Amino acid sequence: MSNTRHFTSLLDITSDEFRHIIHRAMALKTHRDPNYQPLKGQVLAMVFEKSSTRTRISFEAGMVHFGGSSIFLSPRDTQLGRGEPLQDSAKVISSMVDGIMLRTDKHETVTTFAEHSSVPVINGLTDQQHPCQLLADMQTYFEYRGDIQGKIVAWIGDGNNMCHSYIHAAMLLGFTLHIASPEGYYPLPEIVAAAGDSVRFFASPVLAAANADLLVTDVWASMGQEQEQQQREVAFKDYQINAEVMAAAQPDALFMHCLPAHRGEEVSAEVIDGPQSVIFPEAENRLHAQKALLEFLLASK
Ligand code: CP
Ligand code: NVA
Repeated sequence: MSNTRHFTSLLDITSDEFRHIIHRAMALKTHRDPNYQPLKGQVLAMVFEKSSTRTRISFEAGMVHFGGSSIFLSPRDTQLGRGEPLQDSAKVISSMVDGIMLRTDKHETVTTFAEHSSVPVINGLTDQQHPCQLLADMQTYFEYRGDIQGKIVAWIGDGNNMCHSYIHAAMLLGFTLHIASPEGYYPLPEIVAAAGDSVRFFASPVLAAANADLLVTDVWASMGQEQEQQQREVAFKDYQINAEVMAAAQPDALFMHCLPAHRGEEVSAEVIDGPQSVIFPEAENRLHAQKALLEFLLASK
């Protein structure tokens, strides 16, 4: 069990492995071979405590492309929702499948599963991290601009799960992350502290965006924070990526957003639907990046 590789965080892989997964994702996208079925007969269990479009579809489609299958598990319909201990659930589920993907509220749910699972556990988003999205975002950057090492990425908005995974990506791939967040909505200090010089904070979106090669944002209220929407609209009102913020960046800077997006809140319609936005290739790349991750974790078994 101890040799089992998990993907609870980007920090579960090395820089070289991150680049390997990105390049495999690009290759799998360019040359789709229906006869390549490295996961033939394998089963992925997918636990979703929260809603999903992209993550669910990309994992399901990816397993089918690779000759395997997946099982969608909602806590509402399983004993997980009735309080069966996570340890017991992890042991039982992992005794029947080849991999487990979880989208949960608490990050500890995923790490506890990983501790007790005999098969790889994948973080499909927690309140703290969203590492799968970073595989797709970085694949997209590499496709458009080449390696991101030495570049500047501006994160504008909430210091949330996406922001934390961007910090991890900066550490692993060697870019600098400029962060502009309203007071009270900064990323977790322990995650920032571990990143050293990879992260710099700025007092406004325009200052953070200066010379950036990539600008990224996310919703002001994440899943589970819906009741804070109004108070967050006040706190974040000056933290929109709009034409003025884009103008501070490099002229060829890209714009990304994990989606779903709220036009007119964290990003103007002009920017998200404009020529520098790559949100739809980014979303499609969830499929290719996930396949590369599944191949990395499961195919060599
Ligand atoms: N970006 C992302 O994870 O989308 P879903 O919530 O639709 O899975
Ligand atoms: N920060 C968002 C990301 C959604 C993909 C959330 O957690 O809801």
